[in-house]
Amino acid sequence: MNKENTEHPKVLKHIIEERHSIFPKDYTGAAVPEEIISEVLNAAVLAPSHKRTRPWRFRVFKGDDRLELGRELQRIYKETTPEFQFLRKKYDDFMFKVTQAGAIISIVVEYSGLVPEWEEVAAVAMAVENMYLTCTASNIGCYWGSPGLVKHMGDFLKLEENQQSLGFFYMGILE
Ligand SMILES: Cc1cc2nc3c(=O)[nH]c(=O)nc-3n(C[C@H](O)[C@H](O)[C@H](O)COP(=O)(O)O)c2cc1C
Repeated sequence: MNKENTEHPKVLKHIIEERHSIFPKDYTGAAVPEEIISEVLNAAVLAPSHKRTRPWRFRVFKGDDRLELGRELQRIYKETTPEFQFLRKKYDDFMFKVTQAGAIISIVVEYSGLVPEWEEVAAVAMAVENMYLTCTASNIGCYWGSPGLVKHMGDFLKLEENQQSLGFFYMGILE
């Protein structure tokens, strides 16, 4: 093993230890560079999956698409929340979060029917960990948000029968 390789475990350990969820209030709202979004997606699709079903489906929301996503989250929240439970702060927060983020990646699992569903979800979670680690290594804040209302987002995300939203991966430039 050459010197470079002996450093790998240390570097990897460092990145794993450094990884943590950083929330939109700590992002600047600036766009995340295209190269970093590509790196994050490239790392995601290197995750293992049983029978190589590669069950992850991602869609990136950036620029004005973020606002469209924010409006949809607000619309669903309003529509599905009884008036006495409705919180204005929570409603406003959906838009705050998407505008603070520099990019948001929708996380969807596609069930192939070839392996148990939990294995497909597990594979997607491994992909998301790769996304987290790549953000950490690039000093990009990120977190996986999975609000209950994602179950109502099928039409907006144009999901097929065998697909399910597992939430959103928020990414942001840090102060
Ligand atoms: C499957 C999954 C779903 C999550 N959903 C949410 C969420 O809806 N809201 C939230 O604030 N954090 C969410 N998180 C982030 C966790 O709160 C966070 O990972 C946890 O607090 C541990 O913090 P760390 O990531 O800094 O280690 C989610 C994490 C995972 C793995």
